[in-house]
Amino acid sequence: MSPTAAELMARIQSRRARVGVVGLGYVGLPLAVEFARNGLMCIGIDLDARKVAAIDRGESYIPDVAAADVKTLVAEGLLTASADFSAVATLDTINICVPTPLRKTKDPDMSFIVSAVEAIAAHLRTGTLVVLESTTYPGTTEEVVQPLLERTGLRAGVDFFLAFSPERVDPGNATYNTRNVPKVVGGTTPECAELARALYGTSIDTVIPVSSPRVAEMVKLLENTFRAVNIGLVNEIALMCDKLGIDVWEVVDAARTKPFGFMPFYPGPGLGGHCIPIDPFYLSWKARQHGFEPRFIELAGSVNAAMPHATVGKITEALNVGKQSLNGARILVAGIAYKRDIDDMRESPALDVMGLLHQRGARVSYADPFVPAVRARSWLGGYDLSAVTMDRATLAEADCVAILTDHRAFDYDAIVANAPLIVDTRNAIKRTHPHVFKLGAPAPACAQAWQPVAAT
Ligand SMILES: NC(=O)c1ccc[n+]([C@@H]2O[C@H](COP(=O)([O-])OP(=O)(O)OC[C@H]3O[C@@H](n4cnc5c(N)ncnc54)[C@H](O)[C@@H]3O)[C@@H](O)[C@H]2O)c1
Repeated sequence: MSPTAAELMARIQSRRARVGVVGLGYVGLPLAVEFARNGLMCIGIDLDARKVAAIDRGESYIPDVAAADVKTLVAEGLLTASADFSAVATLDTINICVPTPLRKTKDPDMSFIVSAVEAIAAHLRTGTLVVLESTTYPGTTEEVVQPLLERTGLRAGVDFFLAFSPERVDPGNATYNTRNVPKVVGGTTPECAELARALYGTSIDTVIPVSSPRVAEMVKLLENTFRAVNIGLVNEIALMCDKLGIDVWEVVDAARTKPFGFMPFYPGPGLGGHCIPIDPFYLSWKARQHGFEPRFIELAGSVNAAMPHATVGKITEALNVGKQSLNGARILVAGIAYKRDIDDMRESPALDVMGLLHQRGARVSYADPFVPAVRARSWLGGYDLSAVTMDRATLAEADCVAILTDHRAFDYDAIVANAPLIVDTRNAIKRTHPHVFKLGAPAPACAQAWQPVAAT
């Protein structure tokens, strides 16, 4: 090991290293807290002054990060935050956790990575380890990050160290957290990999080294493409079951009893979140640069993108059975965050469903204990919405309650008892009822005899 690398290794292993995390969002804040919790002095750098101020006050704005942890770590001086990149000059290691969205054209938007890396480069000093964590296409670390950092005259693997390690955080998951999810690491040189492995080894139970950053980048995209494709498959099976008069939920529940060779995925109103709807397109963009047409990704993308339309079709069908039309109907959407028990609205399919309902003349309202309000431009409904409380009166007033996100806080018995008509896209209601229609399942047996109850 070179003297520079050996010195950094010693600082990491003795926990004297000053570590930095750039981008304090859903990924960066839990990582910064984990480093600090394990005795490393951590500085979080974020351009968002509100996040920096919240950390300074010892507050958490990420549901998975306990406010008490932030408060304690800030009070102990182990965690600080800044919007000023000059702090980089004081750091031994820097983890980059900035967003990687798609442009409207579905091309990767690298602007956050580029601006963060340029800001780091302005203060980079010899002997620093830089690790990119943002999900991105294979080649980013060596083709984009490395040249930007090397403009300083410092060389990767010699003067500074560079690696990629994909973040695998699953917001809202009570079992798996930053500490106990194995961390894959690929360095631009073996020394870079060793240093990154040592850094994560301070705070994460298991570190899995791979041979290069591009392998590590590809690992993350395989994982997320696997999910997108399997969700696309089960969504297509749901649409098929609907036509065949079979309940897809019963099918998946029975299939999952096979102890090997099957993993359950569930249908729903569409893909959401910052990862699954986006990351596979980073891979397909890169594959196309090399003349390779990735068919699974595109197919899964188009099936998944059709699910908000299928959901609106189901709501229309359910209303129709009671001789009601969607035009003019009062639709109460239950749950609009992209998944259960979290507040994240990024790419939430509920926004598409609500926009489509609005376009077809429905009067849309929503209930979600995690999302107090939705701006007009987010759901293309022409007006801002505030969450309603899902009580007996609001349920009874709706012509149809559409369950799009199955938050545990909802009282499903009360929904069944008080809503005149329900479309359940998540199988949140387990028993059959004449007024409960499910995505991917035939209309309930006695639905033809069912008539809507007039709101009182
Ligand atoms: N959220 C997840 O569940 C998840 C899971 C795995 C991987 N990822 C990946 O991790 C990365 C970060 O995602 P996230 O969900 O934490 O995003 P986020 O939007 O919650 O957080 C990103 C943070 O970066 C800050 N930021 C943006 N540009 C910056 C810059 N130039 N300098 C400093 N700070 C800057 C933003 O203000 C924000 O606080 C993405 O690539 C994402 O794909 C996310």
